[in-house]
Amino acid sequence: MRSQTLLTAAAAIAVAKASKEVLATPPMGFNNWARFMCNLNETLFTQTADAMASSGLLAAGYDRINLDDCWMQMSRTDNGTLLWDTEKFPQGLPWLGRYLKEKGFHLGIYQDAGTQTCGGYPGSLGFEQIDADTFTNWGIDYLKLDGCNVPTAPGRTDVETYKDIYSHWHEILSKQANPLIFSESAPAYFCGTDNLTDWYTVMDWLADNGELARHSYDVATWGDANPWSSIMSNYDQQIRLARYQSPGFFNDPDFLVSDYPELTIDEKRSQFALWASFSAPLIISAHIPDLGKDELAFLTNKDLIDVDQDALSQQATLASRDSTWDVLTKSLGSGDRLLTVLNRSPAAASTSIPLAQLGLSSTCNFAVKDLWTGDATGLVSGEFKIKNVPSHGTVVYRLTPSKNSCKTVIPTGLIMNTFSMTCLTAGAAKGSEVSSASCNFPSSQVWQVKSDGSIRNLAEQSKCLTDSGNGPITIAPCKGNPNQNWSYALSGDLTNEGTGKCLTEGGNGQITTETCKFETNSQVYALPIGAKLQ
Ligand SMILES: *[C@@H]1O[C@H](CO)[C@@H](O)[C@H](O)[C@H]1NC(C)=O
Ligand SMILES: *[C@@H]1O[C@H](CO)[C@@H](O)[C@H](O)[C@H]1NC(C)=O
Ligand SMILES: *[C@@H]1O[C@H](CO)[C@@H](O)[C@H](O)[C@H]1NC(C)=O
Ligand SMILES: *[C@@H]1O[C@H](CO)[C@@H](O)[C@H](O)[C@H]1NC(C)=O
Repeated sequence: MRSQTLLTAAAAIAVAKASKEVLATPPMGFNNWARFMCNLNETLFTQTADAMASSGLLAAGYDRINLDDCWMQMSRTDNGTLLWDTEKFPQGLPWLGRYLKEKGFHLGIYQDAGTQTCGGYPGSLGFEQIDADTFTNWGIDYLKLDGCNVPTAPGRTDVETYKDIYSHWHEILSKQANPLIFSESAPAYFCGTDNLTDWYTVMDWLADNGELARHSYDVATWGDANPWSSIMSNYDQQIRLARYQSPGFFNDPDFLVSDYPELTIDEKRSQFALWASFSAPLIISAHIPDLGKDELAFLTNKDLIDVDQDALSQQATLASRDSTWDVLTKSLGSGDRLLTVLNRSPAAASTSIPLAQLGLSSTCNFAVKDLWTGDATGLVSGEFKIKNVPSHGTVVYRLTPSKNSCKTVIPTGLIMNTFSMTCLTAGAAKGSEVSSASCNFPSSQVWQVKSDGSIRNLAEQSKCLTDSGNGPITIAPCKGNPNQNWSYALSGDLTNEGTGKCLTEGGNGQITTETCKFETNSQVYALPIGAKLQ
């Protein structure tokens, strides 16, 4: 009952938008979960902090030490406060907080929105204010709020129940003397279903209430049979949600599992390079004192950390995808363009990438810097050749335009349905009709999303995506009329100005427009980064 009263009061108060004031750039640090799960203790954290300081990780920016589940006692005190497990933390969490602070770290903590944590410890439902005050008193400035064991509130849907609780927490956290960074796990409880409407709906309100979206699965915890496929699964979930990321609010595809024995060094480096390209949190879950030289080298790569911490906070999106390659791109604060290329295939391979696919002018010159080696590799124009990328390896380049007029970027890349993960495809069998197909045909699946509202296939730039109002969606000569003018919204809808209808994926690869429904599977699309949101 107590929680109901609190929630009603909170619902009446307007909440502030995520802003760079609480979290300017994605957090970097350590969390015990993927590596140690409930086997955490004081020694683990002090030794981890010591090793982070001596190995250069702290100096590279990894300044957060976050506890995950299982740090507390099984019951609250009589006055309702939480206690730490005194066997695991003999000197207590305030002591640990001071120890870390002296070394230059921040302490973060885990709690759960429901009646119990996922590990069965006391949850925060009905105790939000007490727990927030406790965390502040302990010197904690970062809360990961999980979403296990959340009972649906009377008269509310599941989505509304989570919204009530997370916005209540936001209200409390933002009123602490030093507002805590709020990592929200709510969307993870709605992902991966055969109807993604609820997942998208939770993402819609998340940025109003916190700084981080823990949006999907836990990444490979120690002992998982196939950690690479777990990393790739979280990577695909992240791709689905790029439109939600904004300065001060970051999508979180979970921890860097950089000492996982079943991963090759190329796979570990790839996870880091992809997460940096996303401007995602860089939170390592590994036994830091035992990290190898190669792992420390990539984790402290300054050029890639700079990409992660870039002022624009853009999440790189797919410029193209085929059965071997994922090509990602985004803009950087300096006016440079990032190129990240992942070889998903089981063998080393080489490729060539037209700069136009990255939204760049094909007549401009760009200075290229290889961000793994730090080498400047000369000027490139037209096409960029990439040689010998190992299986599951990732290469990353920074392209600097040689003159200011070459800084212009047209948002360019895949237009992908984020439920089916199929791609809008030009041409194909039916002439001018567009269709949806597996993302394996870069020559007909790369689109420019222009500021005049037109959408043009890169291969045929004089033709525009057209909704004539009767019959299939086509590409037709650009006339600048409303039927060729599309707008993109945070909902993922791509709405035609002329018909007022939404791009819709049907069965059999059909693409039509239909009356816009609310964030329904067939109408939610991922567009290239930079495509203007209405
Ligand atoms: C602390 O935790 C680590 C990691 O699980 C474990 O190896 C170590 O034995 C524990 N130490 C104590 C004193 O419990
Ligand atoms: C609640 O009890 C604990 C231990 O019994 C004590 O440390 C704490 O100060 C108390 N808190 C309040 C708000 O009274
Ligand atoms: C998907 O879920 C939403 C929200 O729960 C619901 O309104 C909609 O009817 C569902 N769609 C289908 C096709 O079941
Ligand atoms: C396209 O539609 C938008 C939204 O109504 C409008 O602001 C814009 O001016 C249109 N663009 C053109 C080129 O007509």
